[in-house]
Amino acid sequence: MRTVATIADVRAQVARARAGGQRIAFVPTMGFLHEGHLALVDEAHRLGGFVVMSIFVNPLQFGPTEDLARYPRDPAGDSAKAERRGIHLLFTPSADEMYPPGRAVTVVPRRLDERWEGAIRPGHFAGVLTVVAKLFGIVQPDVAVFGQKDIQQATLVRAMVRDLDMNLAIVVAPTVRESDGLALSSRNSYLLPDERRRALVLSRALRAVERAWRGGMTVGAELTRVGDKELATEPAVRPDYFALVDPDGLEPVGRATTGTIALVAARVGATRLIDNLILGA
Ligand code: PAF
Repeated sequence: MRTVATIADVRAQVARARAGGQRIAFVPTMGFLHEGHLALVDEAHRLGGFVVMSIFVNPLQFGPTEDLARYPRDPAGDSAKAERRGIHLLFTPSADEMYPPGRAVTVVPRRLDERWEGAIRPGHFAGVLTVVAKLFGIVQPDVAVFGQKDIQQATLVRAMVRDLDMNLAIVVAPTVRESDGLALSSRNSYLLPDERRRALVLSRALRAVERAWRGGMTVGAELTRVGDKELATEPAVRPDYFALVDPDGLEPVGRATTGTIALVAARVGATRLIDNLILGA
């Protein structure tokens, strides 16, 4: 594995791989790698010969009251994990390399960011799309892999690639969970033991909705009530939303069908967690 910190070095390495006839597969991350990220790497290996990972904690996607300063970081551990998982090129730029002074353009979504995470975190998805567009421009991958856990992000990235005619494929890989159901997330590291136990209510609520749907309940509002009721069994967990939405527009559905997404976000102590499940997947 080579580790580089400049855009010029990424371009040189990628050009060499391409000249050797390799397809470029890309996994963008903010580091503090866990099995969820590493599953994206495994998927990238299935899709392309030369696998590039970026690690960059992108200041543009954090709001003024969010956790940028305390976002967990582990550069040495990340590098070891990336190397063990067969990453060919690790890109770890500084904020100055990514955002030199004089920046004039950002990528701002027009739709798909008005609800859910976008409503609660104003400007977040403009920050995500801007950095992802830049990373795509730098790495020029044939395919990029995103996690299903951040499904609104993946949906917006797909929309950006479509609407801005970017020449790459987007693959969304399933969420990796602990054996007790907790979706892997770098933010799980903030949870105290008692909070971690309470956080299981998110995946329990999603599973309860899936069970009800498989049992024949299809009305979106009724399924939402099932999710809300399960969330209420942990009063210390404060839900931001529980919703059943269509996979393209992320709008609430009247009736749930195969492919409808159950979405949840909640605060557990000081930590905000999100999770989702695709019905019938
Ligand atoms: O999902 C993430 O870790 C980030 O939002 C991403 C896609 C790397 C952009 O900073």
